[in-house]
Amino acid sequence: MLRQWLPPAARVLEIGSGSGQHAIFFARALVGLQWQPSDRRETLQDLAERVALEGRQGLALGARVADPQELDVDQANHWPDHRFDAVFSANSCHIMAAGSVANLVAGAAKRLGPGGLLLLYGPFQDSGIHTAASNAAFDAHLRSLDPAMGLRDAQEIKRWAQSHGLRAKADQAMPAQNRTLVFERE
Ligand SMILES: C[S@@+](CC[C@H](N)C(=O)[O-])C[C@H]1O[C@@H](n2cnc3c(N)ncnc32)[C@H](O)[C@@H]1O
Repeated sequence: MLRQWLPPAARVLEIGSGSGQHAIFFARALVGLQWQPSDRRETLQDLAERVALEGRQGLALGARVADPQELDVDQANHWPDHRFDAVFSANSCHIMAAGSVANLVAGAAKRLGPGGLLLLYGPFQDSGIHTAASNAAFDAHLRSLDPAMGLRDAQEIKRWAQSHGLRAKADQAMPAQNRTLVFERE
């Protein structure tokens, strides 16, 4: 999924890495990949253990998974100072409150140089309409757990991105009614 988008030996910041499954998966597959996992404090220990167990060997040539760093998108001082080729986040937009997704987009835009990419993977709705019954059911389930959670609107994310200099580049259908939204820094 990422191979087609990333430059060789890409430096990637991942937001909301969770168990670290994507960090390990992509670092095993992509030569030279430099992956920075991150998440909120409460998830950091499990994430660090997974990276220590699986992220130090068996990786693609030259690939590296850095020690996970604490990053809550709502905390301006958590964001790294330096630039990345891409910011990636999977299955996090429907867990974060809508305002946090806006902060994710704004924070990512500042860490990308021209041509840098923001990639958001997961289920999304469009202009308030669900693209599948399974996504509508998932959205209702999330909102019943916490009204702040729920599937985000891809069109709204595109507007936020545009306001931060991120041009909508692709909207790729993925298995199980997921999508990858790809934005490019102008
Ligand atoms: C459903 S998990 C997805 C984990 C992983 N990316 C995956 O696809 O398996 C959602 C993740 O979003 C993270 N998250 C929620 N709110 C966040 C915030 N404000 N800043 C950063 N990460 C956040 C959670 O800690 C959690 O790891």
